[in-house]
Amino acid sequence: MNILVFGKDGQLGKAFQSVLAAHKLSELHRIHFVGRAQCDLSNADAITNLLRETKPNLIINAAAYTAVDQAEQEIDLAYAINANAPAVMAQYAVKEGATLLHYSTDYVFDGTKATPYLETDARNPLGIYGKSKAAGEEAIETIFRSQPDPQAQFAILRTSWVYGDGPNFIRTILRLAKERDAIKVIANQYGVPTSALWLASISLAIVLNENHQLRSFPSGFYHAIPQGETTWYELACFAVQVASDAGADLKLYPNQITAIPASEYPLPAPRPMNSRLGRPALDTLMNQISKGTDVTKWQQWQQSWQEQVADYVQDLVLHKNI
Ligand SMILES: NC(=O)c1ccc[n+]([C@@H]2O[C@H](COP(=O)([O-])OP(=O)(O)OC[C@H]3O[C@@H](n4cnc5c(N)ncnc54)[C@H](OP(=O)(O)O)[C@@H]3O)[C@@H](O)[C@H]2O)c1
Repeated sequence: MNILVFGKDGQLGKAFQSVLAAHKLSELHRIHFVGRAQCDLSNADAITNLLRETKPNLIINAAAYTAVDQAEQEIDLAYAINANAPAVMAQYAVKEGATLLHYSTDYVFDGTKATPYLETDARNPLGIYGKSKAAGEEAIETIFRSQPDPQAQFAILRTSWVYGDGPNFIRTILRLAKERDAIKVIANQYGVPTSALWLASISLAIVLNENHQLRSFPSGFYHAIPQGETTWYELACFAVQVASDAGADLKLYPNQITAIPASEYPLPAPRPMNSRLGRPALDTLMNQISKGTDVTKWQQWQQSWQEQVADYVQDLVLHKNI
């Protein structure tokens, strides 16, 4: 089969490159990794032409406009990449009976709910980034629901606080921990840090069966985050402690991190205070998928955010990447 991965140079795109290589999937399938240089997602014709050329059976859209604050100024560009581009991919998928794997965000919610957001909760984004991602979700849903093809299927995986090979919160904190002996971090925004490598692995478990061929699954929304929840402050303290224990040369230790409210760190784009995502739909699906299969895949699915962050930080320290 043909697999087309958009966003090859982003955190999730690089994670897909690693995971697909680890499973030696290029020996089984033709895999096209595409970045901005090969296809500018703000150009709908370029996407259509690429889809026509590569004829993917599986489209993985790991690309997105992710500059949350800049989006407040670049509204048209954010919508072109986060809403129009996935719509073009969805149109191709329903026409050709392909599978579309797309990613969305906790920012489609307003964060006022007291408990974790479920897959079925109504969207109410606060800023342009969240609105453009919500528009992408809606476009995919509408296109698939209005032109049902029994073979075409989609999964929209909402995730949060992603970290991998690229700029992210954990790397920023560890860089600051080498430079400064005091920092302030927001302690009243709640969410779940998610490893890009884990997200790519879980994604493939959803769309591919044990023989690495496409499986059928219920189209719809899945919240893809590991177990647990935290705040930016707790995450910063945890990452610094793990780095210190792993032997990193730091100026900052967790007791030198000050917890502050979000109101003390104003940013151009509004952010949800509660970014916690519940994952009942994904748990149900993974329970079905994992029945009678490889136990290690199941164990990976049950990992907590702490286990994943610890692995990530230890790896950064070991390879001197901080
Ligand atoms: N990062 C998070 O904390 C977070 C949280 C929740 C949800 N998500 C979602 O998770 C998914 C993956 O995020 P990520 O962290 O991997 O994002 P990322 O590291 O920012 O990567 C996004 C990729 O999209 C590419 N891209 C942007 N504009 C493009 C354009 N016009 N044409 C072609 N490619 C373009 C970028 O290309 P360049 O490399 O050339 O810039 C980049 O490689 C996204 O759907 C995002 O919305 C992320």
